[in-house]
Amino acid sequence: MIVPQPISALGAGVPNMEKAMLQRMSPERVFMMGDNPALPRMPKAPKLLDFFRLRFSEITFRHLLQSAKTALEAGQDEKIVIACLLHDISNGALMRTEHGYWSAQLVAPYVSEEVAWAIRYHQALRYFADEAAGFKYPDSYNQFFGPDYQPPEYIQQAHREARAHRWYMTSRLITVYDMYAFQENWSVDPEQFADVIGRNFKQPKEGLGFDGSPVAHMWRTMIWPNNFL
Ligand SMILES: [Fe+2]
Ligand SMILES: [Fe+2]
Repeated sequence: MIVPQPISALGAGVPNMEKAMLQRMSPERVFMMGDNPALPRMPKAPKLLDFFRLRFSEITFRHLLQSAKTALEAGQDEKIVIACLLHDISNGALMRTEHGYWSAQLVAPYVSEEVAWAIRYHQALRYFADEAAGFKYPDSYNQFFGPDYQPPEYIQQAHREARAHRWYMTSRLITVYDMYAFQENWSVDPEQFADVIGRNFKQPKEGLGFDGSPVAHMWRTMIWPNNFL
C-alpha cells in the first residue's frame, strides 16, 4: 500500500488515507518500502541524468533541456547553461511549491555557489519584468494566477535583494531562457549536456542520495518516493 504524501492531500479535498490504510494492513498487505515495481529501477549509484530519464515528469524533463539548449545556442557561459538545466529540478519529481528554493538546495553541494544562488532567486525574479535584460512579465502567469495577482512580501523582498546583488544577471538569465522553453514538439537529447554537467556538477562517486551530503535524503526521496517512512 502506498500512502500519498501528507502535503499533497492537504487542502486539496482529497481524504487523508493514512487511517483507512492502517486498518487494511495484514500479513499479506503491507506498506511500500524500497523499489516500487511500477517505477523504473534506478541504478545503484545514480547520476544526475538518471533522475532526468527515470524520474522526472515529461514537462520538467523537456523544459529543463529546452532552456539549457536555448542558453547554449545563444552562446551563454556554461554557468548559465548549467543553471538553466537545473533551475526547476525540484518540479521534476519532488516539489513544485517554493520550487526555486527546493531546487537550489537539491543541487547546492554539487554546483558553484553562484549557480545555486541564481536558481534560488529565479523563483522571485519571474514575477518582475526587466525589459532591458529581455524579460517581460510572463503571459502564462496572467493565465495561471489571474491578472491581479500580487506576489507576497517575501518574494518582493527576495527580488529587491537579488537586484542589488552582483550575481543578479546570472539569475535573471535563467528567467530569460525559461520563457522560450515550453515547446511540446521539440525534444532535446540529454546526453548532449554530459560534458557541461561533467565540468559544472560534481557527481558524487557513491551516487546522488548516497554521499552523506546534507541533501542526500532529498535525492533518495525521489528514488523511493512511495516509502511509508
Ligand atoms: Fe522556475
Ligand atoms: Fe522554468
